[in-house]
Amino acid sequence: MKENVPDPNPELLTAKLLLSEDIEVDEEEFHHLNNPADGIKPIVKKYLGVPNHAEQKGSKFFFTDGDASIEVTVVTKEIIRVRLAPHSVFLDEFSYAVPELPTKPVKFTLAENELEFRVSTEAVNCHIRKQDFFISFSDSNGVTTSSDAAPMHWEENVKFGGYYVFCTKTCAPEESFFGLGDKATEFNLRGKRLKNWNTDAYSYGWNQDPLYRSIPFYISVNEGIAHGIFFDNTFKAHFDFGAEDRTKTSFWADGGELQYYYIHGPHMMDVVKNYHILTGTHPMPPLWALGYHQCRWSYYPENKVRVIANGFRQNKIPCDGIYLDIDYMDGYRCFTWNAKYFPNPRKMIEDLKANGFKTVVIIDPGIRVDDNYWVFKEGKEKRYFCRRSDDYFMEGHVWPGRCQFPDFTNPEVRTWWGGLFDELVDLGVAGVWNDMNEPAVFGSGTFPDDVRHQYDGFRGSHRKAHNVYGMQMVRATYEGLRKQLKNKRPFTITRAGYAGVQRYSSVWTGDNVASWEHLKIGNVQLQRLSVSGISFCGTDIGGFSGEPDGELFTRWIQMGTFSPFMRAHSAGDTKEREPWSFGEPFTAINRKFIELRYRLIPYLYSAFWEHHRYGFPILRPVVMHEQGTYSNHYRQDEFTYGDKILVCPVLEPGQTSRKVYLPKGKWYNFWSLEMTEGGQEVEVATPLDTMPLFVKAGSVIPEYPVMQYTNEKPIEEVKLNIYYSDYEVNSFLFEDYGETFAYEQDIYLEKKFIVNGTATSLSIKQSMEGLYTPRYEGYHLKINGLPFKPSKIMADGKEIKEVSVNADKTYEFKFTKNFKQIEILK
Ligand code: GLC
Repeated sequence: MKENVPDPNPELLTAKLLLSEDIEVDEEEFHHLNNPADGIKPIVKKYLGVPNHAEQKGSKFFFTDGDASIEVTVVTKEIIRVRLAPHSVFLDEFSYAVPELPTKPVKFTLAENELEFRVSTEAVNCHIRKQDFFISFSDSNGVTTSSDAAPMHWEENVKFGGYYVFCTKTCAPEESFFGLGDKATEFNLRGKRLKNWNTDAYSYGWNQDPLYRSIPFYISVNEGIAHGIFFDNTFKAHFDFGAEDRTKTSFWADGGELQYYYIHGPHMMDVVKNYHILTGTHPMPPLWALGYHQCRWSYYPENKVRVIANGFRQNKIPCDGIYLDIDYMDGYRCFTWNAKYFPNPRKMIEDLKANGFKTVVIIDPGIRVDDNYWVFKEGKEKRYFCRRSDDYFMEGHVWPGRCQFPDFTNPEVRTWWGGLFDELVDLGVAGVWNDMNEPAVFGSGTFPDDVRHQYDGFRGSHRKAHNVYGMQMVRATYEGLRKQLKNKRPFTITRAGYAGVQRYSSVWTGDNVASWEHLKIGNVQLQRLSVSGISFCGTDIGGFSGEPDGELFTRWIQMGTFSPFMRAHSAGDTKEREPWSFGEPFTAINRKFIELRYRLIPYLYSAFWEHHRYGFPILRPVVMHEQGTYSNHYRQDEFTYGDKILVCPVLEPGQTSRKVYLPKGKWYNFWSLEMTEGGQEVEVATPLDTMPLFVKAGSVIPEYPVMQYTNEKPIEEVKLNIYYSDYEVNSFLFEDYGETFAYEQDIYLEKKFIVNGTATSLSIKQSMEGLYTPRYEGYHLKINGLPFKPSKIMADGKEIKEVSVNADKTYEFKFTKNFKQIEILK
């Protein structure tokens, strides 16, 4: 190993030696910790030297310079993991993000020549350069996709032990970057420097960083080829995408191991799917969770909750979920009820249920210090609360006053916590909302660094556990609910999270503001969360703090109709904020869009299945459809919802029309059915009662009848909206019971439709997989965009005679749900 190795790039070396210019390791803390004036050792900066030895153990390869080593693991054909051990002793292999590595055998080889060692699979080569230990990756065509711009390096952390770890890669002139979770900035992260440290960021602004979640995963797209880097490190981590130096991309962390996964594309979609292979997907949610949800801080007393619920039914605005914020508790003590406001929660929850509402309650991590409070007493007796380094309790003020905090990184604590939900479940609570779990503490922001965590046996300070605290809290919640609900699917929502949190929860983007700017931020945040593994996400519709006017609220409802999680929420000191609060014309438009949400539930549910089973994100930014076109790297307003519906929220007040880019292919305007050739921008009228929506030609969009809540009535028939195309297009419809885990035993139906047309015909074929039988018998088919007048419609060899012909040249008829092929002939 060499110290301060002469760098091939002198500019870089200067940058590396000047700590203040180079790294943002919380400079104050870093200097304090490592300052010689404090009598502590000076900074030791070390780079990997020259690899002089290579060794293979199974699918792992070790390369060493005599002191430091790196490990290269072939994880799958497309995924290679790299780890660094400064003195060749690797840390224990444990990750909250990646519960286990895929075990499917992969073919790989190790080759060596004068210049390099090379580990190769069928898809990727990992090159380890002999001259300087630079690591690079190339695809099977030999195109280099990622390469080091400096050898990996590290600096000792004198106070805590361990190292600050750094990795610097090149950044190409037109390279773009996406991902990193919920950052409130442009969708393309090129030119940004960002930090991961879960933060309670009330009323955050554009470019504010960090926010509530830490997802250390990014996707690069350069010259049409995508790859991903997942830096699985839970410490405070930093990313620089050509901000300090246009030619370099770097990531570093204040501790832990320099460990990252290189994830090969070549498409962004491949990268995201492979990232899901590592970190998992969201389990299927209960169907009702895809409906509209109403929340406020807080609806109380009980009568207020009933009034709101009735308001939905009276106004005929569909709604499935109603939320109780912290005021339902007794002095904000978790797992208690305020007897004055909610004297009989069981009865209230039952009545709400009879009226079609599921009740969701908030639970925060802070447990009030109070010896007369059973949760505190139990936690204290069992030593489940976090402690400082010298064993003092970790205490801090949150809503209940002085609190202690369970150590959710301890599996025993998680089991205990999960068990605490039994009473709420028994009362009929259907979902749990986890908040303040960054963890947030008034005054200090969060816990001090020295708080200790059990970390599933791989102990660490808060520096290591901070970013996973919220994820482990919602994991405890999800796992507890899963046990108590027997075979029913839990519904959970969390504010904080780390990579992989999607296995346990949906996510909302925290305390946003009722402003047009925040509508834009939310639109970008949801797309970004979606490509960062978190598909089940939504914003506080209307904005949490501040007051939206009717127009802003309605535009937000429109965007929310196409957010995988759709919930309106507002702070308590704001005006009433229900979909009917703004009067007409807003109420009618809000109703129209919430009804559209319910009509499209089978479509969203199918997109969810595609996410759960195959790792597709639900929201797909334009660049994901056409990454080869550079201008698309900067498109961030429009996205597809699933892969068939293109959505472009209206993000400006008073807007009467706006430009929308349609990816290549043919698109139907959802409202007018006018067909437009894609690959171009079009100007779309945006009167308040519509928003730009387009459907891809060849799609089959399934639709349920509008109901006031999911499962209000049995479905008697499913409508299939079929959009003519002259090329072949596949669509899916997923169906099951909607509330159990029977799908894990193959009790579901995955239907595939293939649509293909010519100048004189249109054919729709259907095939099915799975063991579920829906109760309805038939389909109501609607054919849109047919370029000819049909003379005959044949379904499985029989002619259909009863066809309604509409003025807009659409055709409607009914047929059995089990059809194999329908042909429409000129
Ligand atoms: C936090 C949450 C917000 C909630 C409030 C009271 O600010 O982000 O959603 O309403 O706490 O519990």
